Amino acid sequence: MEYTLTSMFGIQGEVAIVTGASRGIGKEIAIALASLGAKVVLVSVKPTYLFHTVTELQEKGFDVIGIPADTTKKDNVQAMVDLVAEQFGKIDILVNCAGVSHLENAVDFEEAMWDWVMEVNLKGTFLMCQAVGKYMVQRKKGRIINISSVLGLHGRAQDMAYAPSKAAMDQLTKSLAVEWAKENINVNAVAPTFTSNDVKIGLLGNQEKLDWVLQRIPKGKLCEMDWIVGPVIFLCSPCAEFVTGHILYVDGGWTIG
Ligand SMILES: NC(=O)c1ccc[n+]([C@@H]2O[C@H](COP(=O)([O-])OP(=O)(O)OC[C@H]3O[C@@H](n4cnc5c(N)ncnc54)[C@H](O)[C@@H]3O)[C@@H](O)[C@H]2O)c1
Repeated sequence: MEYTLTSMFGIQGEVAIVTGASRGIGKEIAIALASLGAKVVLVSVKPTYLFHTVTELQEKGFDVIGIPADTTKKDNVQAMVDLVAEQFGKIDILVNCAGVSHLENAVDFEEAMWDWVMEVNLKGTFLMCQAVGKYMVQRKKGRIINISSVLGLHGRAQDMAYAPSKAAMDQLTKSLAVEWAKENINVNAVAPTFTSNDVKIGLLGNQEKLDWVLQRIPKGKLCEMDWIVGPVIFLCSPCAEFVTGHILYVDGGWTIG
């Protein structure tokens, strides 16, 4: 066996869809895939943000396009996925990164918020896997990576919908991995801890919340967005041929136990 960068990590010419790619982690993943020579379709529910991001990446020379779609709407998803398959003739990689959260005490947690978080994080992920999976099953080739969270394993106060949605996403990942193993479709999840960006955008709220998180991370710091990208690329690459149904924690050791 000869080991080369291409035989191990080559994804040149592959067609990838990344949801939730107008900003944040999804945008970073899209940049990494495009940097390695994949043709990347960025998807987001926010057309204006998406347009700005796609224009920025195209101006830098990346082979990317953007298609606005709400991943919770089956007809939206189907139309977008059909368009990609028609335009590129195949879909090799799907990264489900669209996600939302809402924090509130359990007794006050609004039903509408519960539905929204569950719809985007769980149902949207399933609809994307289903629509793209049909094409992957036909070709007997595919890699699906769902962006989960350490909170799919560990609870947190006020995290009444997000944590359960990520736990369910992990189980969805495993069930799809079993069903599609013989179709040569690997389905895995990457489950990060909080990123330093969460502090910048105020998602970690106050010092108490930040300390609660840092105390749980043996490496003693928050995750950087580009540290999430590497494990995603690994799972997309030939290197991960025999890796499926796995939840890969990118958490500085939080889940060691
Ligand atoms: N930021 C973190 O610390 C962290 C930690 C663990 C896991 N995650 C997960 O990583 C993913 C990305 O997180 P982020 O912090 O970059 O989020 P973000 O809020 O910066 O971006 C979310 C993206 O999802 C898109 N989106 C939301 N609803 C959508 C819908 N219905 N259809 C299509 N697109 C939709 C948004 O437009 C945006 O592009 C999420 O799934 C999140 O749960 C984030």
